[in-house]
Amino acid sequence: MLDDAEIIAAVANDLPVGVWVARAPAGEFVYANRAFSEIMGMGARDDVVAGGYAEPYGICDRAGRPYPEAQMPFVRALVARATVVVDDIVIHRSDGKRVNVRAHARPLFHGDELSHVVIAFFDITREVAAERVRDDFISAASHELKTPIGALQMRVQWMLQQLGGGAPFGHTQVVGWAEAALRQVRRLGRLSETLLDVSRIRSGRIELRRDPVDLAQLLRDVVARVDDDLGGAAPPLHLEAPERLPGHADALRLDQVITNLLSNAAKYGQGRPISISLSHDGKLARLEVRDSGVGIAAADRERIFQPFERAVSPDSYAGLGLGLWIVQEIVSRMHGHILLDSQPGAGAAIAVEVPWQ
Ligand SMILES: Nc1ncnc2c1ncn2[C@@H]1O[C@H](COP(=O)(O)OP(=O)(O)O)[C@@H](O)[C@H]1O
Ligand SMILES: [Mg+2]
Repeated sequence: MLDDAEIIAAVANDLPVGVWVARAPAGEFVYANRAFSEIMGMGARDDVVAGGYAEPYGICDRAGRPYPEAQMPFVRALVARATVVVDDIVIHRSDGKRVNVRAHARPLFHGDELSHVVIAFFDITREVAAERVRDDFISAASHELKTPIGALQMRVQWMLQQLGGGAPFGHTQVVGWAEAALRQVRRLGRLSETLLDVSRIRSGRIELRRDPVDLAQLLRDVVARVDDDLGGAAPPLHLEAPERLPGHADALRLDQVITNLLSNAAKYGQGRPISISLSHDGKLARLEVRDSGVGIAAADRERIFQPFERAVSPDSYAGLGLGLWIVQEIVSRMHGHILLDSQPGAGAAIAVEVPWQ
């Protein structure tokens, strides 16, 4: 039979939270459980006391500096004589791993005397990484919004200036201005759809319609629109497609697939020609977009279909890392698949095959 003390010791040792206890006020080691060693990457040290914790355990702040001894959870709990929570600790483990830690330090009292401090350590590495992804996403999304809004604002200001000047304008001129403004508005519209798609996909609320669609016509329309949107920056686009390819699908979602693949080819294609082809073998429609740009390294080929994953430097190429993820979601809901072929440095070809009759 286990006695109560043995049961409590076993439970404490098996808790999924690191527990460490030291004597107050000097900080002599008393107890640590298994999770403590797992988090720290080493067993508890009985040869270190308060004032000397940072170095042996590799305790740092988020900037990578040794954690100030006076700010250690143990010391803060002594001073506060109450539970303190510290969540900016990063353990630089001897195996090279970095672990973000949240520590709850709780003083134990014997009468009025503060006799021990019990610290619970939580591994919050994933939480911190998710926060970082969210912050990066918000800043990338704001940046993406700023570009078309800035262009639109300049365009409208310029139009007002021209119109206020009193000079007469031809119909074609005014239509030209409105069309340029419309391009920026369409870009904003697509961006807001992309942002909405994140929550639609995450909550499984993306539903595909089945309407009559001529895929060949749709492709020609999207190519013309993307070409128009890129204006002077458009690389040569070569399109090879049958006259007609009627079937049933969600035209807006297909439009989104084609738009994403084409805008990637334009963005990462280094201005070189892009070939777009559409074919049908009786069962599957195959759409391929091929560029001769930066290409995709083998190690990145799966990852880039995950949300927020990118394989280029954000300083060189702006983007949210959502395009291919959304393409993948739509295509798999159409019971199709995606094929990727790339020579890093020599371009990428991304093909989408979907059932089509
Ligand atoms: N045609 C392409 N050529 C080279 N790299 C590409 C191409 N298309 C996509 N990628 C890579 O895949 C990543 C994810 O693409 P995507 O999801 O569309 O996001 P974004 O374009 O916003 O970065 C890109 O950041 C880029 O690294
Ligand atoms: Mg993209």
